[in-house]
Amino acid sequence: MRQFLGPQDLPGIDYALEQARYIKQNRFADQALGKNKTMLLVFFNSSLRTRLSTQKAAMNLGMNTIVLDINQGAWKLETERGVIMDGDKSEHILEAIPVMGNYCDIIGVRSFAGLNDKAYDYSETILRQFMDYSGKPVISMESATVHPMQAFADLITIEEHKKKARPKVVLTWAPHPRALPQAVPNSFAQWMNAAGYELVVTHPKGYELEPEFVGDAVVEYDQDKALKGADFVYAKNWSACMEPHYGEILSTDRSWTVTTEKMALTDNAFFMHCLPVRRGMIVSDDVIESPQSLVIPEAANREISAQTVIKEVLKSL
Ligand code: CP
Repeated sequence: MRQFLGPQDLPGIDYALEQARYIKQNRFADQALGKNKTMLLVFFNSSLRTRLSTQKAAMNLGMNTIVLDINQGAWKLETERGVIMDGDKSEHILEAIPVMGNYCDIIGVRSFAGLNDKAYDYSETILRQFMDYSGKPVISMESATVHPMQAFADLITIEEHKKKARPKVVLTWAPHPRALPQAVPNSFAQWMNAAGYELVVTHPKGYELEPEFVGDAVVEYDQDKALKGADFVYAKNWSACMEPHYGEILSTDRSWTVTTEKMALTDNAFFMHCLPVRRGMIVSDDVIESPQSLVIPEAANREISAQTVIKEVLKSL
């Protein structure tokens, strides 16, 4: 496996889940696979969970890890070709990437969407430059349009808690003061569809996601209606995806916040969020602190999803 952006890059969802179950019970069984191999984690943006869980996963597999924060201690990188570099950026990404590739066996990249140019973001420009110029397998640790290790961890968590073979999963938009990328909802929808669950996506009008991720999911603009009978509620904010409003905040309607009253509409659903989460905006204190909240198990499963993915890559080296 030379790249990881979504479920299509794994040998199959059932296989991936089986591997994840095995790894959760046998975290240190494959240390020989990573011996003398180095995982480089490159962060253009902040992280808590991804930074820690991906390092832990690589260490579980016997690997060495190097973490590089591009904006803290490294040279500022120019990412566009054809520019005259007379500003504050000292190094071009097209030299930096092959240099990084020299020092490692696998590269994980976190590079969020800029939300200024949809074509640039949705072609995954930065991640693809790493794929093209590093000479090493590349894993998305949340790139412009996808966050696959999060969605894989979410899937593992649902499998561990579901009470029926095909649960009803509701992905609901919720308000946020800043414009956020669509990577998390894109990947969540993509992975829920790949798992064959009943998926309902609910958001105010104007927040439609790309059909390639939403697939055959039901899109319901009435949140209360969407939540009825839900087994899992996955809350997330995202900015507008469709032109001419790409990257804009179109609503801050607090009636979309997931509260105890909203959860009462569900079939005693579990609450999920990738974290970090803004309480009072996305979710109420009562809901996130309730026994039905899965936010901590989700975060714990980030180690498992990362280890499953890295193991597949190691097997192909
Ligand atoms: N969920 C997630 O990716 O968390 P971090 O941004 O802290 O890595």
